[in-house]
Amino acid sequence: MSSNIILPRILQVGDGASDAVLDVLTSLNCQNPLIITDKMMVQLSYAKNILAVLAKGGIQADVFDDTVPEPTVSSIQAGVEKVRAGHYDSIIALGGGSPIDSAKAIAILGKFGGKMQDYKFPRIVNEPGLPIIAVPTTAGTGSEVTRFTIITDEVTDEKMLCVGVGFMPIAALVDYSLTLTLPPRTTADTGIDALTHAMESFVSKKANAYSQSQALAAMNLIGPNLRGAYHNGNNKTAREAMMLGSTLAGVAFSNASVALVHGMSRPIGAAFHVPHGLSNAMLLPAVTEFSIPYASKGYAQCARAMGVANEQDSDDQANALLMSELRALNAELQVPSLEQFGVDRQSYLDLLPVMAEQALASGSPANNPIVPTSEQIISIYRGLW
Ligand SMILES: [Fe+2]
Repeated sequence: MSSNIILPRILQVGDGASDAVLDVLTSLNCQNPLIITDKMMVQLSYAKNILAVLAKGGIQADVFDDTVPEPTVSSIQAGVEKVRAGHYDSIIALGGGSPIDSAKAIAILGKFGGKMQDYKFPRIVNEPGLPIIAVPTTAGTGSEVTRFTIITDEVTDEKMLCVGVGFMPIAALVDYSLTLTLPPRTTADTGIDALTHAMESFVSKKANAYSQSQALAAMNLIGPNLRGAYHNGNNKTAREAMMLGSTLAGVAFSNASVALVHGMSRPIGAAFHVPHGLSNAMLLPAVTEFSIPYASKGYAQCARAMGVANEQDSDDQANALLMSELRALNAELQVPSLEQFGVDRQSYLDLLPVMAEQALASGSPANNPIVPTSEQIISIYRGLW
């Protein structure tokens, strides 16, 4: 049996990688890019820096900075209209997961029309949209190397998963120096998201030898460095490891898929506006504990790759160490409970059956080592309170 691996055509990795944007654009024979980003990237001068590099090659780019966190169908509409009205030959997606996910949707809708709902899973989107050069500024989502985007349908509160090679950036400029300004909360949430991508893809039913090699390398980088990046944002060694780890985790899950944590995380995010990485962090210990009996070897390998267990530890010992590490990590990174985050208890409990159905319908739980029933999902959700 063989595995189908899909990657960006160009990866530029390391300090200053974002300065390669002009060379990459030129190599793609593009001259008229639209920069898709958010207000924070403009405020931090990151958009200005990209414009300055492009100007050296005589390229003037327009900037669309109206993307929002956890993008919705209506939030991307202005970007779609801008693409339709202009003559852009490429998109530079600059920011965290939300601007990059927005750019992916805009690149497809701007070129082919229709509504976002038309492109949601199970449809596989293979049409080539406008080519995207992704420049991530967080170490977490891995969106720069995935064939997915997530757009919320605000009418139904559904986080629509959209899948296909059409959403894969043609190039990713992975520059850890852009993450040095990230505040601790974002560092923690995005870092745990990346760790979740690596762990879930490693034990996923769709895992393959290639995706697992990337996931192990990712855990090896993330495990020993997440705390360092959280406590001291200027720790370049930790930032560099987190950035590469996050990209490799993105490669891993884009080619193997995520599982139960992500399946259960999206409904929490959609209903209660908990940021993606944070809802993953809330779920990761409970879902891992639930799943370990069905993939004890795999999780033990995760523990060893993260550096919390060694080769002498039995699988059971390694998994016990993994569980204490996940709980200790949440405590040290100050991951709030749902209650502390401000979720209303009764609304949460009332919504559990719907959230369980949405989780199952997303398809992600089907990749988990054990596919849970709706009742089991509800029980895990209950346990978070
Ligand atoms: Fe994620």
